[in-house]
Amino acid sequence: MDPAPGALETQSLAILRRALDRLDAGFRGLPQAKGPRQDAAALERVLLDVAERLQDNYPYFHPLYAGQMLKPPHPVARLAYALALWLNPNNHALDGGRASSAMEQEAVAEIARMFGWEAPLGHLCGGGTMANLEALWVAGQLRPGSAVVASEQAHYTHQRISAVLGLPFESVPCDGRGRLEVAALERRLERGGVGTVVATIGTTAVGSIDPLPALLALRDRHDFRLHADAAYGGYFGLADNLSAEGRRTYDRLGEADSIVIDPHKHGLQPYGCGCVLFRDPTVGRFYKHDSPYTYFSSPELHLGEISLECSRPGAAAVALWATQRLFPLVPGGAFARALGESRAAALTLYEKLRADARFLTAFPPELDILVWAPRARRASDASQLARRLFAEAARRGLHLALAELPVAFFDLAAAGMERDRDTVTCLRSVLMKPEHRAWVDRIWELLDGAARAVLGD
Ligand SMILES: Cc1ncc(COP(=O)(O)O)c(C=O)c1O
Repeated sequence: MDPAPGALETQSLAILRRALDRLDAGFRGLPQAKGPRQDAAALERVLLDVAERLQDNYPYFHPLYAGQMLKPPHPVARLAYALALWLNPNNHALDGGRASSAMEQEAVAEIARMFGWEAPLGHLCGGGTMANLEALWVAGQLRPGSAVVASEQAHYTHQRISAVLGLPFESVPCDGRGRLEVAALERRLERGGVGTVVATIGTTAVGSIDPLPALLALRDRHDFRLHADAAYGGYFGLADNLSAEGRRTYDRLGEADSIVIDPHKHGLQPYGCGCVLFRDPTVGRFYKHDSPYTYFSSPELHLGEISLECSRPGAAAVALWATQRLFPLVPGGAFARALGESRAAALTLYEKLRADARFLTAFPPELDILVWAPRARRASDASQLARRLFAEAARRGLHLALAELPVAFFDLAAAGMERDRDTVTCLRSVLMKPEHRAWVDRIWELLDGAARAVLGD
């Protein structure tokens, strides 16, 4: 009898077995070599312990986990990654990972084509932080000593990276919708000394999109490098239901000098997969090194020659390549439609919250992240209630997140609320699984129940 279906997807494991046999067939000519002796019983004991330990997690794979930016990789990515681990290729050099290096180049080229780039320089790396580090490092090589400027809602990594690189960092305010304020940036640019402006395409807290067309116009007048941190939002250009303003930004993303996009956020990959792209491939010259340890045995490109990290998991490239094979990055395809579903889920939940007098919504979501606060007499009361709602929803099996946001994101005056703090603790939900669309009613039901318990009817 088949075991009762569990919550976790495991059917795909049978495919892994067949793929492993196929991989094995390619190495069959080798003389027998005994691997290390295995105590299968001990191995199983440890693994079962691991399974117990891992239960201490939120159910990130389930649609009722609607909190932080977390989702499990697609089964194809999980299987391809696991399959590659039987070889464990290293994409530092072709000697360590010939097939997986080629797959990395193909997968990265497909990502770059989303932005209209046919011959950029780019590669995978550990994640958004590492990818942004490389982009700002190159920016600093080209504009030594000049400032990096990003909005107050840009990821905090930019400030830290700038400190690591010894570059001055400054932030400029955001407008009431969490977007970099163009007039404030222009005033800053007029004072001089800015080398790089970071445009965030999908802010971490609320998914806002900085106004790229206006930033490009400023770049024409004040010569600076424009780096797009699209770690979260980069793929959304494929969706067909963006706001008109969002669409205008995505249509011009290819005019940035560098772009970061994280396959481990919306690209269905396991963690450890970021991507940095440079429009001008000649910046590869900055990576040049002369090391006695290299094993670059051929004149072909070794990815270690254009990457700051040395050893890198070939398995990550294999997983990404396999995923993009199944889900090509094209408008109208299954992957693009799934992104549209996530945004539609966020808009549907937003409308429910907006129509409910117990809640105060911020601006409509640009992507699939939304934030809201309970209405209360003062911002501080709303913050306390948000914490209680968060806990009550979790008790009922709905997992949300909390965010500390500027009160300017909400129209407190219209809601008759006193502004006794500069920030308000809000509820935040990232509806990044396509299944979220079908689960909005259930999410709302649980939220409504939690709100009745905390706020009263
Ligand atoms: C816009 C943005 N940039 C950078 C990062 C950092 O990426 P990572 O956590 O992959 O290092 C994040 C993470 O959420 C992000 O949302």
